[in-house]
This record gives sequence, structure tokens and C-alpha cells, in this order.
Amino acid sequence: MSDTDSGRRSALSGRTILVIDDSEAVRTAFDVLLSMHGARVVGAGTPAEGLRLLEREHPDLIIQDMNFSRGATRGEEGIALFREIRGRSPELPIVLLTAWTHLETAVELVKAGAADYMGKPWDDARVVTTVRNLLDLGAARAEARALRAERRTARAALGRDFQLCGIVYESEAMHTLVCMATQVAHAEVPVLITGPNGSGKEVLADIVQANSSVRDRPYLKVNLGALPNELMEAELFGTEAGAFTGARARIGRFEACDGGTLFLDELANLSAPGQAKLLRVLQSGEFERLGSNQSRRTHCRVIAATNVNLRQAVRAGQFREDLFYRLNVIELEIPELADRREDILPLARHFLSQGHDLSADAEQALLRHSWPGNVRELQNVIRRACLLSAQPTIASPALRLPVAAPPREEAPLDGAVIRDALERAHWVVAQAARELGLSRQALYRRMEKLGLRMPDEPHARPHA
Ligand SMILES: Nc1ncnc2c1ncn2[C@@H]1O[C@H](COP(=O)(O)OP(=O)(O)OP(=O)(O)O)[C@@H](O)[C@H]1O
Ligand SMILES: [Mg+2]
Repeated sequence: MSDTDSGRRSALSGRTILVIDDSEAVRTAFDVLLSMHGARVVGAGTPAEGLRLLEREHPDLIIQDMNFSRGATRGEEGIALFREIRGRSPELPIVLLTAWTHLETAVELVKAGAADYMGKPWDDARVVTTVRNLLDLGAARAEARALRAERRTARAALGRDFQLCGIVYESEAMHTLVCMATQVAHAEVPVLITGPNGSGKEVLADIVQANSSVRDRPYLKVNLGALPNELMEAELFGTEAGAFTGARARIGRFEACDGGTLFLDELANLSAPGQAKLLRVLQSGEFERLGSNQSRRTHCRVIAATNVNLRQAVRAGQFREDLFYRLNVIELEIPELADRREDILPLARHFLSQGHDLSADAEQALLRHSWPGNVRELQNVIRRACLLSAQPTIASPALRLPVAAPPREEAPLDGAVIRDALERAHWVVAQAARELGLSRQALYRRMEKLGLRMPDEPHARPHA
């Protein structure tokens, strides 16, 4: 037996599976099959008994029939049972057993939250794989839920101890960054914040400032990309009257910010002379106003931000290496929003205006989008949708996100794409079908045509 075989087998071992079917033969068949893989199978002949066992045995998964009374074929008893179980255990995987001729009801229930369905007669290997995958998936989801809960607790604790300036996140990556920002806030060293456009660099800078020992001192922000070179140097260091045409005497930001924090945004735009002056003031605290020989002193904490890869800029000779090392003593690198998808929905909900919420398809559309403009783009999309949507619940068309692909049903058969989706879904066909935008039957038809089968599926032994 290979490692994967034994690893896969263990997914069933020690797990309790409740089979609710009026046919004793069916219950026995599942008992024999699933016990062989280490599962404990409990059987119920009626919905009422099934519900009793659900309370008593706490199963990890349920396999349920759709018809229980003699002659019943419309599945109403199965639907009622399914709803009852869902009401009691919203997350429990339920596999529906149904005649292939009555698939529609099962498909509807899968949409309503059943985990999967199987046609009668079933195929042993498929049963084992489906059950195993659903148990794996359930375990993975439980783990993810526990992790999220843990993170929320950690986030709440951080919020009690520090000023978090309204930052919203759920991802581990952002949590680590925010922790770092609060930890380095007290040190006097410069902080360099990097990250793509609109990813939240300024929010992070605010957190550093708000938790520093100089939080009550001046906090000024300068956008180094906003002005031509000479004016920028005047802005930073001040001018004497007549230093250049039309110049009046004024103090610069470094002077105004003495004892406080200076946020230098779009750092990479600073000219070479500006870089030299910045390096000097960082090293010695000394600078001169434009048009003056008199050295002045200032002491302010610098937080710099850029969306440019400064290492590359240094290699290309566009940014001073000594200044780079001076500034990046502490570097906080914000990932793209696309690389921290867990943050998308919490941020989207945060940006909704009061009285609005998001439909399930809108949430899916937000999760699918690649967000080249990061959090700012998400903020704009949600604000626009709130303004334009006539309904309180925003549906995906109101988001006006670019349509990704043509409808998948019409897409040509691509075996590799289908196999990838199946593997990603651990061969849970319903899940892969959802991802591919196909109906489950359509996916089965394609799998059949392409000869795609679950890995290590032994010869099919259909049951009567
Ligand atoms: N994690 C977050 N939680 C809440 N709001 C956020 C978060 N990240 C960004 N924002 C909001 O998104 C917008 C863009 O963020 P910010 O200005 O900090 O990005 P930036 O990286 O400085 O952008 P740019 O590269 O354009 O300067 C702001 O309105 C900010 O308040
Ligand atoms: Mg910014």
C-alpha cells in the first residue's frame, strides 16, 4: 500500500457515518463497504430513527435515501429529512441517494447545501472516494474555521493594546504586518513601507505613528511625486526669501515636524539632490533651507512608502544604495490584495454603506476578480455599487466588474482544465462542477467522454 493509500484510508477510520435508508440490504451494503475502510456505520430505517441517531451518535457524515414509504418516488420524505438535518447541523455533509431517473430533486438539494448525491445503483469505489473527500473537506474547513477564530481573538487582543486606525483584515499576512507595525512603532528607527498601489501603505504608516512615543507630536505627510524637484526640496527643507524666482521665506516639513513623524510618500520619485539631502538629514539631523548656508537641526521620525521595487531601482542606479539601507532598517511589505483573498470580503463589507449588503453571487464575483488596484479599487467598486444599486442587496451586475470568461457550458472540452478542477476539488464532482460553471450531469458526461476517473479507483462494482 502506498503512503497516499494509507493516508487516504485514515480519513475514514474512526469516523461515524449514519446511513438512513428503509432498505436493510442498502444499510448492510454501506456497513460492509465503509467498515472495511475503518468507519463506524450506524443505520436507521426511517427518518425519525435517523434524527434520533443524529442526536445520539454525532455522525461525521450522513448518507440518506430520498424515499422511505412503500411506493413513494417523489422524494418528498427525503427533502423533509434533509431540511430537518440541515436545520440541526448546518455544516454536516449529507450525501443523497437517489434513482438516476430522479436526479432533479437531488440537484436542487445540492444547491441548497447538501454535499453531494449518488445515483442508485451506486459504485463502491465512488462511494468511498466521495465519503473520504467530504470528510477531508469537512476536517479542512473545521481547521480553517478554528484558525479564523484564533486570528479574530488575536486581532481583538491587538486592538485592545494598540491603536489600529480602523484597519480591516483577516489574513495571516496582514496580521503579521500589523503586529510588526505596532512592535516597531516605539523604536526611533525609520520604517519603509512597500506594496502595490492602493494596498494600504498609508493606513500602515498611520498605525506606526499612532503607536509611537511621539504620537502627540506633529505628523505631516508629503507626497514626493506631487511637485517638481526644486519645489519638492523647498517643501521638505524650506526656503529663504529669494532662493529662487518668487520664493518666499518659509519653513520646510522637516523643520515643522521637529519632534514628530514625517511620512514621505512615493519615495522613489525623489530627485538625486533630494536623496542626498534626505540622507544627510537622516544621518545627522542637519539640513539647510534653500538659499541659505546656515545649517539647522531637526529630529523627526521618518516613515517612507513606495510602490516601486527599490532594490531594482538601486541596481538601475536610480536610487541611492546608502539611502535605501538607511531607510529600510524596518521594511513592512504589504502583499497585493489578490494574494490575501481572505481580506476581500471583510473589506468589501466594511466599505458598504449602511443598509446595504452583498448577495452570494456578488461575493463570488468579488472573490474571482484579480484587483489590480488593490484595496482602493475594491473601495471604489463597493461605493459605486452602493450609490447605483436600487436594491439594498447588491447583486454581482451592480459591481460592474469585467466579465471574465464566456459561459463555461459552451467552452470546448478541455481535459486538462477538467482534470485540474477535479483534482483541486479532491474529486468531489459537485464542487468541481461548481468551479467549472457546469452542471454536475454535464461534468459527468464530460468525464465519461474523456475517460476521466478518480485515481486508484478499482473496478467498478455496481450494486443492485
Ligand atoms: N486594510 C485596510 N482596512 C481598511 N481600509 C483600507 C485598508 N487598506 C486600504 N484601505 C483603504 O483603501 C484606500 C487606499 O489605501 P492607502 O491610501 O493606504 O493605500 P496606498 O498603498 O497608500 O496607496 P497608493 O499606492 O496609491 O499611495 C484608503 O482609503 C484606505 O483607507
Ligand atoms: Mg499612499
